[in-house]
Amino acid sequence: VSDMLVDTFGRLHTYLRISLTERCNLRCQYCMPAEGVELAPSPQLLSQNEIVRLANLFVSSGVTKIRLTGGEPTIRKDIEEICLRLSNLSGLKALAMTTNGITLANKLQKLKECGLSLLNISLDTLVPAKFEFMTRRKGHDRVMKSIDAAIELGYSPVKINCVVMRGFNDDEICDFVGLTREKPINVRFIEFMPFDGNVWNVKKLVPYTEMLDIVGKQFTELQRIQDHPTETAKNFRIEGHEGTVSFITSMTEHFCAGCNRLRLLADGNFKVCLFGPSEVSLRDPLRRGVDDDGLKEIIGAAIKRKKAAHAGMFDIAKTPNRPMIHIGG
Ligand code: GTP
Ligand code: 5AD
Ligand code: SF4
Repeated sequence: VSDMLVDTFGRLHTYLRISLTERCNLRCQYCMPAEGVELAPSPQLLSQNEIVRLANLFVSSGVTKIRLTGGEPTIRKDIEEICLRLSNLSGLKALAMTTNGITLANKLQKLKECGLSLLNISLDTLVPAKFEFMTRRKGHDRVMKSIDAAIELGYSPVKINCVVMRGFNDDEICDFVGLTREKPINVRFIEFMPFDGNVWNVKKLVPYTEMLDIVGKQFTELQRIQDHPTETAKNFRIEGHEGTVSFITSMTEHFCAGCNRLRLLADGNFKVCLFGPSEVSLRDPLRRGVDDDGLKEIIGAAIKRKKAAHAGMFDIAKTPNRPMIHIGG
């Protein structure tokens, strides 16, 4: 791995998240305000060739995993070509996607052929009416179909991202866990995080320990599995269940010490921390004709400025950041 990817705390950044678009076919309340967000005019967004050029630079320096995010990544018309070109980068071991699953079912076979190897699907409720309330759109049945399609196509495990919010879906935690009995899925309960425009409130946050308590009471055979040091999730298994259960504890027990993640946003900005406000444009130097070595210098310098950890939940809530829809998680 090139020194470019190592920060001053010795963390190795081998996982790049690329946001492919700022658009989405849902309007999730925890992700953006009802009126939507300002979208950069398309000439300001990275083209397919620019994405591949930058991705190649990262992969040739030691990045082994790329995750495509958005907005909603499947909205991009050239998604198949992007997957194909990225999955062919020599040195890349995994091409992943985080999607809302709305239009995935009929696209997935093709995406798999284009090299998409890992799949995370967002689903916060099993009740269609609550889905409509949270996402301000219809489509619960389509997401459920996409999850089944993903299982049928052999994605294993299909990860289900469930953002838990008090008073909205905390009563469904055990129903979600129940799904793991028969399905080879990994249900991941995520603590609600503050971003611009999502009206975060500590009262809506259900802390990890409380979620664990709720699950442990009904599923007494819950057992911790050792997780990989760079993982976002704390993982558990339940005797007799096909699938597994995890918790992403960004707020109450952050996992910054093992962070290996970098972010390239749709407008070409490079972000070294989900919560750090500092960003540097890679698009502008690239369009000025700066060569690979010059770009690597800019990337390396940004990584060297990465902080040891985020500022704690109350400070994050006060620090300006982008809306989640721009960052892609
Ligand atoms: P895997 O590669 O399957 O482990 O997925 P992932 O957790 O890296 O990515 P995903 O897009 O599924 O994100 C799941 C949740 O983890 C989302 O709520 C993300 O915002 C959160 N998350 C992802 N990366 C980070 C990170 O670097 N820091 C924090 N605090 N949360 C993160
Ligand atoms: N807090 C926690 N998770 C969030 N996600 C989006 N917004 C938030 C938030 N405010 C999740 C989405 C998706 C992943 C990329 O991040 O549900 O699964
Ligand atoms: Fe779209 Fe995902 Fe944001 Fe929901 S969380 S609005 S699905 S990008």
